[in-house]
Amino acid sequence: MPQHSNTQKPLNIVAVSGGLNHPSKTEALVQEILNELADATPIQVHFIKFSEIGHLLGGAIYRNQLPQRVQDDLAKVEAADALIVGTPVYRASFTGLFKHFFDFVEQTALVDVPVLLAASGGSDRHALVLEHQLRPLFSFFQAQTLPIGVYATDRDFAKDYSIQSDLLRDRITLAVARALPILEWAPAKGQRAEVVKDKTAQANQNLGINKQIEQDEVLPSAAVPNLDAAESRLHPKNLKSNVA
Ligand SMILES: Cc1cc2nc3c(=O)[nH]c(=O)nc-3n(C[C@H](O)[C@H](O)[C@H](O)COP(=O)(O)O)c2cc1C
Repeated sequence: MPQHSNTQKPLNIVAVSGGLNHPSKTEALVQEILNELADATPIQVHFIKFSEIGHLLGGAIYRNQLPQRVQDDLAKVEAADALIVGTPVYRASFTGLFKHFFDFVEQTALVDVPVLLAASGGSDRHALVLEHQLRPLFSFFQAQTLPIGVYATDRDFAKDYSIQSDLLRDRITLAVARALPILEWAPAKGQRAEVVKDKTAQANQNLGINKQIEQDEVLPSAAVPNLDAAESRLHPKNLKSNVA
């Protein structure tokens, strides 16, 4: 039974599974993480499954060339309080289509957004895909990648794609437990959707994936502490009031 009170505002979680197969182990993994999170705290979920939209992604160079469904999914990603992202390992990395999808995400939309990283692969030896491929991608976005990611291999799943490994279950529990304080702390809870609405509309109109939004237009994040306050704590003597 969930232990949370239902008066809490639900976190707006967007999950992305890059698994192209149906059924998909990546999708099952991301779903398990969602289930664990839902047991711990109120969430509302938008789950983007590449088993459904993968075939819609190829061929588009510009965001407005994508089918409306994918443009809507991108807008959901940009307005999420937190992301749970999973990809199968293809040639020791995320899939090309997973990267292609995130190439369309507005480059400041994920600043400070907590992101839980997950991947499924055929080999134990590619577990570091989380650290060497996924984490740098979301670091580019200045997202807050969560400390514990979850990597599964084909052996962790039963024939019906349910998780049969206790070790993997423990890892999911640990990842969610470590994520919770960060998710609870994020004061943006449930508010990002409103805050980023205009920016998302603007991003939707961008003709090119390479069009840059100036740094001073970085999406406001309710989670970002006031930088002046941080500066004054670190360099009090630089403050004008102290200079006199
Ligand atoms: C084209 C392709 C490349 C793959 N490359 C790797 C790889 O480099 N390392 C690995 O561990 N698994 C690799 N795999 C295995 C998949 O990552 C693994 O079976 C995964 O669990 C599939 O996820 P899905 O069920 O969501 O599609 C590859 C599979 C495919 C189809």
